[in-house]
Amino acid sequence: HPMWLPDEALRPLGERRVLVAAGIDDPVVATVVAEVRAATARWGGAVTVASPDASLTGDEVRGHDVVLALVPSSTAPDEPTRALADDVPTASGSFGVLREGATTTVLGLDSPGLLYGLHHLVRAGAAAAEGDTPLTWYAPTNDVRMLDHWDNVDVHPVMGQVERGYAGGSIFYADGRVREDLSRVASYGRLLGSVGINAVAINNVNVHRTEARLLTDGLPDVARIADLFRPHGIRVHLSVSFAAPMTVGGLPTSDPLDPDVQAWWAARVADVYDAVPDFGGFVVKADSEGQPGPFAYGRDHADGANLLARALKPFGGTVFWRAFVYDHKQDWRDRSTDRARAAHDHFSPLDGRFDDNVVLQVKYGPTDFQTREPVSPVIAAMPRTRLAVELQVTQEYTGQQKHAVWLGPQWSEILRFPLSGDGPDGGRPGGRTVADVAAGTAGPPDARRAGLVAVSNVGDDAFWTGHPLAQANLYTFARLAWDPSADPQTLLDEWIGLTFPDADPVVRETLHRVLDDSWRTYEDYTAPLGVGFMVRPGHHYGPDVDGYEYTPWGTYHFADRDGIGVDRTRATGTGFTGQFPAPWRDAYEDVTTCPDELLLFFHHVPWSHVLHSGVSVAQHVYDTHWEGAARTVENAAAWDAIAGQVPADLHARVAERLAEQVRSAHEWRDQLRTYVFRHSGIPDATGRTVY
Ligand code: GCU
Repeated sequence: HPMWLPDEALRPLGERRVLVAAGIDDPVVATVVAEVRAATARWGGAVTVASPDASLTGDEVRGHDVVLALVPSSTAPDEPTRALADDVPTASGSFGVLREGATTTVLGLDSPGLLYGLHHLVRAGAAAAEGDTPLTWYAPTNDVRMLDHWDNVDVHPVMGQVERGYAGGSIFYADGRVREDLSRVASYGRLLGSVGINAVAINNVNVHRTEARLLTDGLPDVARIADLFRPHGIRVHLSVSFAAPMTVGGLPTSDPLDPDVQAWWAARVADVYDAVPDFGGFVVKADSEGQPGPFAYGRDHADGANLLARALKPFGGTVFWRAFVYDHKQDWRDRSTDRARAAHDHFSPLDGRFDDNVVLQVKYGPTDFQTREPVSPVIAAMPRTRLAVELQVTQEYTGQQKHAVWLGPQWSEILRFPLSGDGPDGGRPGGRTVADVAAGTAGPPDARRAGLVAVSNVGDDAFWTGHPLAQANLYTFARLAWDPSADPQTLLDEWIGLTFPDADPVVRETLHRVLDDSWRTYEDYTAPLGVGFMVRPGHHYGPDVDGYEYTPWGTYHFADRDGIGVDRTRATGTGFTGQFPAPWRDAYEDVTTCPDELLLFFHHVPWSHVLHSGVSVAQHVYDTHWEGAARTVENAAAWDAIAGQVPADLHARVAERLAEQVRSAHEWRDQLRTYVFRHSGIPDATGRTVY
């Protein structure tokens, strides 16, 4: 399945006379030419390829419906480029679009810009050939638009081949090695390039024995993978183990201040760039969930990150250093340790100490990719650090691609969150947002830009993502990485239009109906009011209210007969609220101003506590779980009604997943409602069944 690039999506372009005036020496330009050639051959259009510096006359240009050129280009000086304004963006990947007379002109600032401009036209479809438009420039907000794969070369005994993967095996690896046939990787690169992704990390952040050797013995294979991504403007990255100098290199230490360790990394990096001249850099999970790190040597995470940054620096590489550091062996009896505090405690004192080719990669929330969390206070606390925000496209905690959960609204809410402002109800307009920090536009003028990273949801499944509708998450992430201010509904609409180009309007309506509110529906029937987890330990699918309550993982809800929630206040709790800037430190501290959806993240309250919504916590659980589960039944029925209007195998796969979602949602509903009733003794005012 072609995801959002079926042949028909390129039909409006393929029917035209297209001029590509950019030569084909550059691998990304070659991709543009190949796309246009294939589409015009299929749909009856025509293509002319001219060298970038051919002097084209006005008539030659006008003889085409579409002109794709690079800036600066030597098309006749008074022709398309004459309209070039002074405000040409500088970010790589920028492009301009102009429509005059019968000709649409796309000007790529560079070759990725040309590719993105081409796909801008593809998205616009037939509308791209209507009316006149003055030259309009499009520039990516974020320099870093990255997907991390948690793929293992070997099948891990517990985590399988793709850790937290819900779409089959890896597209990169099979049988303990890099695949011979990497054609899925080539198709994946094309899909990602079409939506502006420019970086991919190809192995799990938990780096096991075999995977640690990608850095050495595996380099020829890494180079094969890089060759397939390069034509789509994507640079390959590797996750590396901080202990590699010992485990791979045989040194007695991995101490970041040891000269032999530094020399070892410098030599490895030189080898990598011999094999992959445009290698992107490293992703590092250190001192986290059992991965080795600088703490073993009494060094801090700036020492650790800068060790690798200095090895990469001469080659232009970047270290993505993850801030997901906490004590995963906590004693549940210890009420003073708060996992939510850990990243800020570790990293905020290091602000300003990271080299400029280090990007600190921070999960959006303080715990772990839950359906609802406050934004991580680390994002607001490191103005002198390049910082990327990490999202989870793979649906570990949001239904594991069995449940239809479109995460666009969640991500958009996070990205638009005002970190500073005047009031608890959204802050001062113009205050810096999470998106501003990630883009690097919130800091001092010389701040280096970063962006967004997400864990991919793709595997070797025929539909790529297990649940075919989970493709919408991959698409939406990529488009938000390009422009975090985009309206997620518009992006969903784009995805529907590209993926189902000939569909009847009822198909479009049904997809919106199933997906538009699916994140809130999922929240409604799972862990309530921001308390998180309540999933089955280990694999994290399905309800288990007390599953994590007495474990070492630091993810507790503290429910008893009187109430539920985690007291993270400064007054009586763990003090986590104090890690936020104003106004949030006070808004969250006070139970009367804390938003309902985060109440149990910040406060321990009685079951009878009345929410802003006017109902008690207990009744809220009763109502939302009943209604959320009921909506899954309506969605499944709506989907049944469009049988025959989308490809049969896709319809069947979605139907099967929706049926499982209905089953699972009712399991969640009944466990949560019953749990609350048994603990609180408060009856459901509506009299609906509890067990
Ligand atoms: C979660 C997930 C792990 C993963 C970790 C991470 O805890 O369950 O599988 O390794 O996140 O982000 O590193």
